[in-house]
Amino acid sequence: MSQLKVVSEQHTTDESFLNDVLDGLSQQQKSLPCKYFYDDRGAALFEQITALSEYYVTRTELAILEQYSHDIAKMLPENLSIIEPGCGSGKKVAYLLAHLANVKTFVPFEISKEMLNYSLAHLSPLFPELVISPLLGDFTHSQMVKQLAKDTALDNQTNLVYFPGSTLGNFAPIKAIEIMKNFHRLCGLNGYVLIGIDLVKERQVLLDAYDDKAEVTAQFNKNLLQRINNELNGTFNLSGFNHQSRFNEQHSRIEMHLVSQCEQSVVINNHLFEFAQGESIHTENSHKYTVDSFAQLAEQANLTLAHTWQDCNNYFALCLLRPQN
Ligand SMILES: C[S@@+](CC[C@H](N)C(=O)[O-])C[C@H]1O[C@@H](n2cnc3c(N)ncnc32)[C@H](O)[C@@H]1O
Repeated sequence: MSQLKVVSEQHTTDESFLNDVLDGLSQQQKSLPCKYFYDDRGAALFEQITALSEYYVTRTELAILEQYSHDIAKMLPENLSIIEPGCGSGKKVAYLLAHLANVKTFVPFEISKEMLNYSLAHLSPLFPELVISPLLGDFTHSQMVKQLAKDTALDNQTNLVYFPGSTLGNFAPIKAIEIMKNFHRLCGLNGYVLIGIDLVKERQVLLDAYDDKAEVTAQFNKNLLQRINNELNGTFNLSGFNHQSRFNEQHSRIEMHLVSQCEQSVVINNHLFEFAQGESIHTENSHKYTVDSFAQLAEQANLTLAHTWQDCNNYFALCLLRPQN
């Protein structure tokens, strides 16, 4: 199996996890970064979420890939390298890999060692000839991405940066632009960026997708507290918090929160945090776009929308972008 290359220890260690958690819980609106959802159990729960009837996101994007991978491949050159930040299970890229000729290298780029190993185990047997160069690191750190492009000589070739799953929606617009600027850097001058975005739709469909009846999403959200207990000596009582999904009209986004059911205090690595009854920890944003609002956002990262592929309900869009030089 391919060896994991760690892009920067600094952004994948327990220390950065602890600092991010302490920082987030010290804000007036307490928050926790969603990038820490994916430990072993979080990764397994996310896989369950993708199969839920309420969670249209994965099955819709897979259907678009199934229908249009051939057309997408026709718009891309041969001899590409593909970089997939936040690759997760690696299931989606398999559709593209099956249609693209002579892919040079596939670079799965993940913050979660568990997800990275999972994607390797999935893809290696399917594409035994493919060179896979896994990277463990954080795609939100611009410095790291710059270094990565240099170290791997990715900046000298034509690359496709593939970013499915509407992961971009987890970021507020300013950060999303910064991330797309990183992708611009990674794809090189003649490269391509393919991003999956979740589209604005009926509010109840959105709320249900993030608050399923079987409560798998609730378990996924609360698992972040369990991870803090396990890895950072936290004392969260999981039954003292309830999962909630909210639609924020102003920012066109679904928010996930964990709401304290009583007045309580929690200690994390000798730091004390007080919670009032009803106070929430904001754990995730999931921005919903229109094709136009997304194209405008991408323009601010010097990326131009070249083509979109959508499902028949217009729930989701795969957007191909080209860098402006
Ligand atoms: C919503 S999942 C999507 C997975 C996959 N791309 C898909 O479409 O099915 C988000 C993935 O991105 C990874 N991730 C989140 N934030 C990250 C970051 N800052 N750097 C690298 N990977 C990250 C997570 O570990 C997780 O596997």
